[in-house]
Parts: sequence; C-alpha cells; structure tokens
Amino acid sequence: MARRLIELPAPRGPLSEWLFEALQGPPDEGLQVPGPIDSADPIADEDLQLALYVAYEIHYAAIAGVDEAWEWAPSLLAFRAELERPFEAAVAELIEPASEGELASVGAALQEIIAEDPGPPLSRYMETQGTPAQMREHVIHRSAYQLKEADPHSWALPRLPPRPKAALLEVQADEYGGGSAERMHAVLFAGTMEALGLDPGYGAYVERLPGVTLATVNLMSGFGLHRRRRGACVGHLAAFEMTSSIPNRRYGNALRRLGYDREVTHFYDEHVEADAVHENIAAWDLAGGLAAGEPEVAADILFGARALLQVEARWATHLMDSWERGESSLRHPVAVPA
Ligand SMILES: [Fe+2]
Ligand SMILES: [Fe+2]
Repeated sequence: MARRLIELPAPRGPLSEWLFEALQGPPDEGLQVPGPIDSADPIADEDLQLALYVAYEIHYAAIAGVDEAWEWAPSLLAFRAELERPFEAAVAELIEPASEGELASVGAALQEIIAEDPGPPLSRYMETQGTPAQMREHVIHRSAYQLKEADPHSWALPRLPPRPKAALLEVQADEYGGGSAERMHAVLFAGTMEALGLDPGYGAYVERLPGVTLATVNLMSGFGLHRRRRGACVGHLAAFEMTSSIPNRRYGNALRRLGYDREVTHFYDEHVEADAVHENIAAWDLAGGLAAGEPEVAADILFGARALLQVEARWATHLMDSWERGESSLRHPVAVPA
C-alpha cells in the first residue's frame, strides 16, 4: 500500500467550501469560524459530513496542498466542534438511555443490543440476490473505513486501564496482521478492491461516497479522537466485532456465487474466523473490563454500540432503497470493468 495522500474533494455546500478554502492557506490566519450549524438531517447531510470527514482525515492522512500543521490549528478544532455538535445530537436522539439492569452487566447487555439490530437485512440480500455492480458499490462504500481498518479505535489505546487495553491490543494485533503487513486487514481489503477491478488507493472514492456513508466513519473517528468518548469507542468496536462474523460469511458467499475466487473473498473469509474470536474478547474483556474499571463510562459503552447499529442501519437502508429504485447508491456510479 502506498502512503496515504488524498486530494481535497469538491465541496458540497458552504461548510465544506469554507473548510477546503481555509485549508489551502496557512493554518489559522485570522479565520472567522462559521457557526452554529443548522442541519435538518445531520447524519445524511452531504456538506456537514464531508467537512467533518476531511477535518478528521487530517489525523489519518496527508492532504495534497494542505499544511500538516493544520492538524492542531485552533480554528480547525473550533470548526470541527461546530460540525460534531449537531451530528452527536442527531445520533443521541436515536438512542434510548441504558437501563440499570444493562449497566450491571455490560457484556450481556451488548449481546441483547446486537440481537435487536435495527438495520435491514443487507448481507442476506447480498448473499442471495446482490449483483456484481451492487457488490462493487458495497466495497466502495466500505473502503472509507476498511482501508484504514482498526485505526479509529486505536486512538483509544492510551486512554484505557490495563485489562481493557490488553483486550483491545489483542483484537487490534489481528486487525493489523499479527506482525505481517500482508495479513493486515486494510491490506487484504485493498487486495479485494484490486481483484474486483477497483482502485485500491486510499481515498480514491471519496467523491462518490454519500454523506450517510461518511457518517459511519465520522462516528468512529469522533469516538476515537475524544478521550471523553472512550466508552463509546469501546462499545462501538465491541458491537462491530459482534456483528461481523455472520455478515462477512454472507458477503464471501455472495462473491463466490458471483464467480469470484479467494483473491476477492480472502478479506471476508478472514473475518468469519477472526471475529468469532474477537466478539468474545470485545464484549467481555474489553467492554466488560472497561465497565468494571471505570463504571462512570458504562452507559457510554452501550451508547457506542447502539450508535453503531443506528448509523449502520441508516447507511444500509440507503443502499437497499437506492437499489430498489434501480439507482446507484453512490453519488456517481462507477463504470463496470471490462
Ligand atoms: Fe478486521
Ligand atoms: Fe475483528
């Protein structure tokens, strides 16, 4: 994988326009930050989510023409906080507060929460009916996260006490390939993209990703980058691991049904086994361990899990609704490779 260098995408409204213009100048020179931000639907707001995505991306990647000193520029952080506020509030509106019983056993509560996944049956649909074009679109949406798989949750590492830190490291060590760059999950995903005739370059498809897809990544970046959300970050990862094994088996099956070989399915096959192990570590040692050590963040652990399911449900509904209408789920469809 080449080094991470993205281009500034085209702005999608006044917020991303303000940010991208500012980023092309020197950090922080006399900037008047716009705000407060008013959005009717922050989770799917193209302008807000793209601006927030780029504001977070500065922590993960180089951006062509943008001074790296922007990463900690006060005006960028102030603007980012304005973008985060309505997004956080919109997510919180979808989430019921944790009950006393749930807080008494966070591991068990997580299992109940994922059993009531509010999302549509996307992986089942893909397994039985998904077309090659839909599978490629799915991979493009996921590339926003999978090409930096595990990185958003790694921000939490220095913020955890020993037991959950050890558990998180055990999971992340697998995500990062257990000492082998070729087995790193982000690298496996790039291999899947390449074998499908897609561009595996980091950030290659940002222009095509709708706000609701960027929101799935912004959610975890926000949890990871704020120490105050370490509980939510842990809960998000736990629910992610706990809802990964079976869907990944189905995506692998979908690709085999469409005639693709191991080169394409390897990423998915790897997750069937790995996440069956990760889900227990994540629920009991990571999330349970953090709740035991820092009971004050137990409610936020469950918030993070529910937030993942709600925002993923919103994303999956967008894909299935678009396809039902016979449309692409991307902002611009991709050409089918010859
Ligand atoms: Fe993974
Ligand atoms: Fe995993």
